[in-house]
Amino acid sequence: MANLLEQLAAMTVVVADTGDIDAIRQFTPRDATTNPSLILAAAQIPTYQDLIDRSLRESREVIGAEAPAEDVVREAIDEISVTFGKEILRIVPGRVSTEVDARLSYDTEATITKARKLIGLYAQAGIGTDRVLIKIASTWEGIKAAEVLEREGIHCNLTLLFGFAQAVACAEAGITLISPFVGRILDWYKKSTGRDSYPGAEDPGVLSVTRIFNYFKTHGYGTEVMGASFRNIDEIVELAGCDLLTISPSLMDQLRQSEGLLERRLDAAHPGASEERIHVDEATFRTMMAADAMASEKVDEGIRGFSKAIETLEGQLAHRLAVIEGGAAFTHAVHEIFLLNDLDGDGCITREEWLGSDAVFDALDTDNDGRLAPEDVRGGLGAPLAISR
Ligand code: E4P
Repeated sequence: MANLLEQLAAMTVVVADTGDIDAIRQFTPRDATTNPSLILAAAQIPTYQDLIDRSLRESREVIGAEAPAEDVVREAIDEISVTFGKEILRIVPGRVSTEVDARLSYDTEATITKARKLIGLYAQAGIGTDRVLIKIASTWEGIKAAEVLEREGIHCNLTLLFGFAQAVACAEAGITLISPFVGRILDWYKKSTGRDSYPGAEDPGVLSVTRIFNYFKTHGYGTEVMGASFRNIDEIVELAGCDLLTISPSLMDQLRQSEGLLERRLDAAHPGASEERIHVDEATFRTMMAADAMASEKVDEGIRGFSKAIETLEGQLAHRLAVIEGGAAFTHAVHEIFLLNDLDGDGCITREEWLGSDAVFDALDTDNDGRLAPEDVRGGLGAPLAISR
């Protein structure tokens, strides 16, 4: 019998949730998704340092020899996201999702401008809009930006989606695809109830995606549903049949190693029971979000987390640019990271204090003691970012 990953791929589009190009190569996903934390994690991998350096050099050329380093770094964030996207598109036959700077999540105009710019960078490489999804946080401002972009033929993936109001607003706005999160919803419920686990079928993240899927299919919305943010394979098994599921390499590997019959749980042709159609205008959106503590907390927290990931990457890029261009901002970069993360000022950053992703923490914590000392951070910055000197 085929393993669970093969059975899943027969009923759902399997998408790789990573910026690690080599990890994508090990599977055969149709599409791939990145986010700022995943790009930051990928940027720590020594093999990809030449991509980082290339992006920095191209950004310097675009911005000009006399421009301040911070402008070059700001440009390089976009270049790097698109550079990873282009590399990923050499492997996957379908689409890559590239996220707009999370710091723009409450600014419709700035989001539109950034999305057009990212699409322009892809176009310079001959990559058309059919192969790119611009990822935007599902705030009201983000959804309105995506509505404009969709009318221009720029396809969007609305992310950080936790609540039903966000999903309905996206469907009504004609968005190509939404990424309702599963694992982060589970995280919230575990924390707020004190329960340490939920069976897959009762997982609140699974229930959320199921509700959205059945609503879209019942009422004929064309917006694709891509479950995201998984914590275990039970959540994935319970969503078999969803339009798409974006899955980390480690969970794809677990599915590949698991046997058993995978039953379809979601069926676009025969959706499960769903509520009456509703209309979500701005007032309704804000009222529904205000009544949904989980969704509103998780959106804000997600935007903060992704913003922090971008800021951390900017700090690293500033250092690397200085190295490339003959400067020495190394100590400064380490100092900056401690200023941001060492909340109790004891000279060590614990996992609880760390504002970046677990993957980056793990990459820096080379002695695996669960704490980052200045030498860990210095090593993490110095080793990979110095490789192509
Ligand atoms: C993908 O689109 C999401 O950004 C990703 O699945 C989030 O996963 P996380 O909750 O594990 O960070």
